[in-house]
Amino acid sequence: MKDIILTGDRPTGHLHLGHYVGSLKNRVRLQNEGNYDKMYVFIADSQALTDNYDNPDKIRENLREIVLDYLAVGIDPKKVTIFVQSMIPELTEYTFYFMNLVTVNRLMRNPTVKNEVIQKKMGESIPSGFLNYPVSQAADITLFNTTIIPAGADQEPMIEQTNEIVRKFNSLYGKTLNECRILLPDNKICHRLPGLDGNEKMSKSLGNCIYLSDSEEELHRKIMSMYTDPNHIKVDDPGKIEGNIVFTYLDVFAKDEDFSKYLNEYKNLDDLKDKYRHGGVGDVKIKNFLFNILNDELTPIREKRIELSKDMAYIDQVLKEGTAKARIVAKENMKKFKKALRINYFDE
Ligand code: TRP
Repeated sequence: MKDIILTGDRPTGHLHLGHYVGSLKNRVRLQNEGNYDKMYVFIADSQALTDNYDNPDKIRENLREIVLDYLAVGIDPKKVTIFVQSMIPELTEYTFYFMNLVTVNRLMRNPTVKNEVIQKKMGESIPSGFLNYPVSQAADITLFNTTIIPAGADQEPMIEQTNEIVRKFNSLYGKTLNECRILLPDNKICHRLPGLDGNEKMSKSLGNCIYLSDSEEELHRKIMSMYTDPNHIKVDDPGKIEGNIVFTYLDVFAKDEDFSKYLNEYKNLDDLKDKYRHGGVGDVKIKNFLFNILNDELTPIREKRIELSKDMAYIDQVLKEGTAKARIVAKENMKKFKKALRINYFDE
């Protein structure tokens, strides 16, 4: 059996460089390799409401923005079904029955949820819908018989939780669902790209992101504000590479050709690091270098995004057609699910 690929994003803001290296690039690669049975990418608007229930307009405003980001990086709606989570009611049904198979204690132990509870200052007032979102994510994954999920490392606990539910469901009701695995990027740094400020994660809520939609000026300004080595004050001071975010990004993005193109006094990244460590390389120089590299990568995406945004009716059409397609599969799979649960009363 060929793979079924699925992944999604919460529409709480535009997609950023962390999404790009953590998952979007893998999606485009998988799409172009074409070695799969079906591929789905969806907008997790219902999940986004679990911690933004008091601000539904934010989710509504970002729905189409995410689709613009998808198409701008090269996701092709002819090859990939793009759909809206809230428009597939079978997902909610799956979630409801899965909730029986997970304890509250287990949900409280989910490390990604734990981090979010702290980051969002939920304290003791965790909405049960939010605590439960990993269960709803298990529904997203299993409803479509997903086998591979291209995502960042923060999604690993969700995949683990999903597979636990799958095993429990199958052992109670007979083999119905399949297990899945996460596909992480080859480069470990991309599993969780740090933010501009040095925080371990680039995140909308931390305000430390480079967005795919940022203008050239914004990109330049953000890179100039990046965290480097606080003790590297004068150009001649020795500098540190570890924890220096500019070098972390260069590790991800710099290619040997970039040196001959933009910084030909250094042979390659190792050479640049070596000279920086010894002193004599200024932060503005390495930041400008990073800017040139990132700008080369992001300019075509930015330009395509602006072009696409002139025809929002097309974006709506992509969503409507993708959702209709996904719904057909959802309805079909729901039948087997209900049969396994013995609630298919009038089928025979
Ligand atoms: N939790 C993911 C995020 O925060 C979004 C998501 C929802 C997802 N359902 C999914 C990702 C299923 C992969 C598979 O971005």
